[in-house]
Amino acid sequence: MKLLILGCGGFVGSHLLDRLLSRSDVEVEGWDPEVSKIAKHVGNPRFTFHQAPCIDGVELRRLEERLAWADALINLAAICNPAQYNTRPLDVIRTNLFDSYPIVEACARANKWLVYFSTSEVYGRTLSSYTQTEVDDPGLYELREDQTPLIMGPVSNQRWTYACAKQMMERIIYAHHATSGMPFTIIRPLNFFGPRMDYIPRSDGDGIPRVLACFMAALLRGDPIKLVDGGEARRTIVAIEEAVEAIVSMLDRPLKAQNRIFNIGNRNNEVTMRRLAEMMREIYAEITEDPAYSDHPIIDVSSETFYGPGYEDCDRRMPDLTHAHTLLDWHPRRNLREILLPTMRDYHARYANATHLDDTAR
Ligand code: UGA
Repeated sequence: MKLLILGCGGFVGSHLLDRLLSRSDVEVEGWDPEVSKIAKHVGNPRFTFHQAPCIDGVELRRLEERLAWADALINLAAICNPAQYNTRPLDVIRTNLFDSYPIVEACARANKWLVYFSTSEVYGRTLSSYTQTEVDDPGLYELREDQTPLIMGPVSNQRWTYACAKQMMERIIYAHHATSGMPFTIIRPLNFFGPRMDYIPRSDGDGIPRVLACFMAALLRGDPIKLVDGGEARRTIVAIEEAVEAIVSMLDRPLKAQNRIFNIGNRNNEVTMRRLAEMMREIYAEITEDPAYSDHPIIDVSSETFYGPGYEDCDRRMPDLTHAHTLLDWHPRRNLREILLPTMRDYHARYANATHLDDTAR
């Protein structure tokens, strides 16, 4: 199998490379401006790496030439951090829509299989968040790839810039398939968790990362864990290693995976952000063997204070996984504790001393 991967150096890309390069029948050519998460693969004879974004000029021409060699192109490149959707809306739209557009065009011209990483955020908010009914009707909240309407808030709530750009890309890809037959697979990830997700602010990045790294940073630094708008939002969490198995299963089964959209998540691991914070402090007490972490402070903050004006949350994401079960034979099994324990151990091993040192130096 010969693959081109854009964004191969990020969280998902680095885990996907680990898995793909463990197989002797896979060759990968990848692009990413960042190398730190995949440094161990550079030099592997089955991996050609370009330390650059692939948005225009030389790299885009190179990519177009290499499409003839590849069986598929996987596009993981994106800004996917909610703290930036309402604070850097133009960058978010440029990266997720305009920079991705030439890639789809190139695949369409070459009639090459495009595996596109979209987002569960294309669903926006659930119908049940608007109907306010007490009735437990899965039709009002379950996310079904081919049926569920995509509902976003008003334009002034710029949180939806990302969801909107990704939704437009999905529609462009679908239109190319409908017009010229370009094969495609769209993946809608639902909160993949694992080692190397995002960064710890002031250690190896700046700004506000996603919730796992935010809560980890608070534990590592002794700051309070912050719950946005009461911590009532719910997410379903799936292990990155299991999510990668779903992707590999798609690549191994083109006839079943092509021309479809897949939710990839774990229905059994639904959790409110408040419960996630409580679980993480309990598990951190176990990892550090310091029972005081069980009472680590958790405080409430408004979304306006935390993210700035124009933030609006996805209330709930409960995926229908029928496509993934029946077409990919994919059944995620790891429960939340089995995901959090090794992930948090990894963060602790990598950052506990470093965060202490750089805090002392400040
Ligand atoms: C993000 C991306 O926008 C999605 O595209 C992506 O699919 C998803 O992450 C993912 O990881 O799969 P979201 O789940 O909203 O979506 O991102 P997080 O930043 O992880 O936020 C999750 C929840 O935690 C939100 O309700 C947020 O308000 C809350 N949060 C975050 C806190 O309560 N405290 C924090 O310190 C950080």
